[in-house]
Amino acid sequence: MSNSWLVRFFAVGMVCLSLGLCGTNVANAQGARPAVAQATPLQPWMDATLDADARADRMIHEMTLDEKIQLVHGAGWGVLRAGTPVAAGHNGGAGFVAGIARLHLPDLNLADSAVGVRMAAPESRYATLLPSVIGMAASWDPEAAFLYGSVIGRELRAQGYNMSIGGGVDLIREPRNGRNFEYASEDPILAGVMVGQIARGVQSNHVMGDIKHYAVNDQETGRNILNAVLDQRSLRETDLLAFQIAITMAHPAGVMCAYNHINGDYACENDFTLNQVLKRDWGFKGFVLSDWGGTHSTVKAALAGLDMDQPGDDNFFSDPLKQAVVDGKVPQARLDDMVHRIVRSMFANGVIDQPPMPRSVVDPFRGRDDAQKIEEESIVLLQNTGGILPIAAAKTKSIAIIGGHADVGVLSGGGSAQVDAPGGNAIDPGPGSSPWGKAIYFPSSPMRFIREQAAAGTKITYDAGSDPAQAAKAAASAQVAIVFVTQWMTEGQDSATLSLPDKQDDLVGAVAAANSNTIVVLETGGPVSMPWAGRVKGIVESWYPGIGGGEAIANILFGRVNPSGKLPVTFAATENDLPHPHVTGLTERTGNNGADAGGGRERVRTRPVEFPVDYNVEGMAVGYRWFQEKNLKPLFPFGFGLSYTHFAYSNLKVDADAKRVSFELRNTGAQAGDEIAEVYVMLPTSVGEPFRKLAGWKRVSLAAGASQTVEVAIDPLYLSIYSTEKNAWVRPSGEFLIEVGGSSAELPLRQSVRLATR
Ligand code: BGC
Repeated sequence: MSNSWLVRFFAVGMVCLSLGLCGTNVANAQGARPAVAQATPLQPWMDATLDADARADRMIHEMTLDEKIQLVHGAGWGVLRAGTPVAAGHNGGAGFVAGIARLHLPDLNLADSAVGVRMAAPESRYATLLPSVIGMAASWDPEAAFLYGSVIGRELRAQGYNMSIGGGVDLIREPRNGRNFEYASEDPILAGVMVGQIARGVQSNHVMGDIKHYAVNDQETGRNILNAVLDQRSLRETDLLAFQIAITMAHPAGVMCAYNHINGDYACENDFTLNQVLKRDWGFKGFVLSDWGGTHSTVKAALAGLDMDQPGDDNFFSDPLKQAVVDGKVPQARLDDMVHRIVRSMFANGVIDQPPMPRSVVDPFRGRDDAQKIEEESIVLLQNTGGILPIAAAKTKSIAIIGGHADVGVLSGGGSAQVDAPGGNAIDPGPGSSPWGKAIYFPSSPMRFIREQAAAGTKITYDAGSDPAQAAKAAASAQVAIVFVTQWMTEGQDSATLSLPDKQDDLVGAVAAANSNTIVVLETGGPVSMPWAGRVKGIVESWYPGIGGGEAIANILFGRVNPSGKLPVTFAATENDLPHPHVTGLTERTGNNGADAGGGRERVRTRPVEFPVDYNVEGMAVGYRWFQEKNLKPLFPFGFGLSYTHFAYSNLKVDADAKRVSFELRNTGAQAGDEIAEVYVMLPTSVGEPFRKLAGWKRVSLAAGASQTVEVAIDPLYLSIYSTEKNAWVRPSGEFLIEVGGSSAELPLRQSVRLATR
């Protein structure tokens, strides 16, 4: 057998397995001609030596109009809505598109999988809960991000899915956004690189990846009706830049358009963002799928660049699209382009040649170990007064653990990113899925691992923290008090303030007053304010820590792991310092979903009314840039994080074209550690961007006393501005200031270079 014959033989064989058609009479089963019985002539698109585009063209050539229409919409809400029909072949995920058996085109089974595969429990499956995406981004480690994506891809595949619908890269403009735990950063470069690596990791498993929610889906309040307003240059240099980086790095199969409007048009019928930017300027070859229920028209959406309507029961891309094609309102070529994008992505990612094997088994132990490793790089040590951390086990005779259900588990984020907790909610166990709207804890008890690492005989107590006076008593009788505080966040709901909920600030205050050795461990979806920061010694941000979280937290607290994470977002001291002191549109009356939520206390139902969210207030000055521009001091700055060792920076060199910087990094402390060395650039004053911007970084491991010459490449894009006149990125001429250090607010090295325009 020649090699190419072998390839073809296996390709056909694998498809036959995935469709469950092997040895059956396909004509009888599917009402179509036999698909696999004849080995020859081989269907021409199964020639794996051809590229994905050529294979897609060959298959599309054979398709009927009805078959094409079938591929560009989902089969309905299915398992997401009780009482809705579930299509045959549906794998239990959020989305399903029926394949075409006679052409060997498999069904598409799509699963939400932002921080792990959603909805595993109803199918009696297991999925690993990873740390939140914002936590992973705090590692600033592209390899950890790739690993993150590969855990998701591996488990999707083992559960029979061939497409992920995770990959959130919306910019953290709004620190109270309920979905920040699914997003990466307020900085477009950090966000784009880390989420791009996640998508690469997913796709390395022959599972199609996705990047979402395109674009400017930066708050949940009124997400279905709001109009995000932002001038084009700012849009290109902030929110869109994050997408641009992730998409050009990962070549994801899908880009999910968002619910909101962008400068007037809905994101899923927005010619500018879909046709002009994504497909023309960035050369995106995959397909645009709508967020669930995010399609609002047939002809307008199709012409603006939407390729797939999900979940599809709104009937925009079924018969009405067929009719529009027949009537010539949507050109046949546009429909063919939609189908081409879908099918070529399936070939390009190997989901046709190497389909998932349903009902193989997820390895929970491997997943847990990977989740813990990522979390250990993600935890950020924010304060360590008097070196209270790491806890000296030999000298610590008693520890009071307080709050956060730290006796049983760790918190997870809610909404479509919710992973089902094994055994049910750890604080309210029971089998089945983890319901929408409830704070779900996973069975990874920080207390258990603290007990394991404390010296034998150490007295360890737990107090639930519901009564501050009681908690203070428990704290007073221990040498060290560790308070766990939580902020549950979810899709569909923003937080009205930066404060911890449920009066936990009072709890920390009471404990700190009773015990001068108080350490606070945060499990939050994003930044929170900490009015008690000056009264406690240790502060550790663990985000939502994932299934290995309990052990990872204990490893940091006792120094088995040296903390190395750095903040991917600014922690403001108060909401008054934010560009939008109030979340736009969030009032008691409207609740979180905008005017029609009826969820506010007054339970008033009004018709949804579109409202603007004016992001021109800050424009390009998102996050740390705003704080610089306004000369405001945050509680903790972007890029900040402590270690149990110290690092010194020296000897900065910038090459003539500012494409590469190098410097010396020395570990001046007594133990090994990882430093995230950050490089910022301030563009010439003439361009009107009066703030430094992240331009590169490197995570470096150094033994105690060791030093290393570190080189960081700077992408010329990051030295450029977006010219709306030229409709292109342009590097301005003038003086560029390059700064290097361990935090956006502490940059010991600086050098200017003069560059000509390009
Ligand atoms: C979310 C998406 C999700 C989809 C399917 C929507 O509500 O915004 O992120 O993928 O539902 O569950």
